[in-house]
Amino acid sequence: MSAVKKIGLFGCGTVGRGLVELLRDKRDWLEDKYGFLFELCLISDYLKGTVKSPHGLNPDEVLKNLAEKGDLFSMGSASSKRFTPDELIGSLQLDIVCDATPTNYETGQPSLGILRAALSSGACAVTSSKGGVGFDLAGLEKLAQGNGVKLRYESSVLSGTPLLNLTRDALAGCEISRAEGIVNGTTNYILTMMESGASYASALTEAQRLGYAEANPAGDVEGFDAAVKVCIMAQAFFGVKISVGEVKRVGITGVTPEDIKKAASEGRRVKLIAGVKREEGGITGYVGPQAIDITHPLAGVMGAANAVCLTTDNLGDVTIVGPGAGARETAQGMLADMLEIARG
Ligand code: HSE
Repeated sequence: MSAVKKIGLFGCGTVGRGLVELLRDKRDWLEDKYGFLFELCLISDYLKGTVKSPHGLNPDEVLKNLAEKGDLFSMGSASSKRFTPDELIGSLQLDIVCDATPTNYETGQPSLGILRAALSSGACAVTSSKGGVGFDLAGLEKLAQGNGVKLRYESSVLSGTPLLNLTRDALAGCEISRAEGIVNGTTNYILTMMESGASYASALTEAQRLGYAEANPAGDVEGFDAAVKVCIMAQAFFGVKISVGEVKRVGITGVTPEDIKKAASEGRRVKLIAGVKREEGGITGYVGPQAIDITHPLAGVMGAANAVCLTTDNLGDVTIVGPGAGARETAQGMLADMLEIARG
């Protein structure tokens, strides 16, 4: 007998839609392999509307509406009212709230409010948004603990590539002194394409088409997305809260084709490097383009791939490489979190 898990989804853009597809495509396989039936009972998106059903929405109908109309307003239960997260979560007795909302780098909203509402109501929460966990991971974890529920945020950094699970589980007992890498898929894709001769503008358009870029891609190219991921790593690895404004940040908008050619002629490659490290004065976060040697472990990370090299006491350097953006890739991180929660 399968255990039914009632799921609510906030945010139905690229990632939210990816999660609906993944839950539809793998429904039977997940039930066979893990014994869980993930029933999508709520979808709420500021622009596309809110639909809910205590017995589960039909994912095909959701996806058809999104593809053909671009919103959910034609579905039977649809409402255009802007509900508060509390209103929606409490009434449906959800087991897991999934947050795939866009990130506001100044306020952490709407993610922060959604996660607080979910955890306070006694639901577990999974987020791919960088807003809530980037701003107040410790506060959210305290709230989760106080309510006896779990918060997971694997796909907020490196999409579904399991950096955070790696540090929490497999590297238990290791102290991390530095985490440095490529944590934004869009900018790495743009730099890769520029190296092949594409223009900055066409590479950005393609990154948007492929679902890598943020709703407002300025967040990617100006380094805010990488900076908020640095804030998440600072809290997750060092237990220290730093704000996006405290991260020394330079984006890729000033990188020219000439810079890339010059670096190539010197056996180097331009990458947007982000990191956080423990120093005598405390924890420092940084994001900026660097021309790294072609033999550097991060130099071969191309396209929308990401990588983070962790410097640890017991194992030395450990590097994890994998997809850093994309609908299915990010939804996979959310699915892994949902399974971990469901398995208890
Ligand atoms: N826009 C982000 C990126 C999505 O390009 O990395 C994944 O967080």
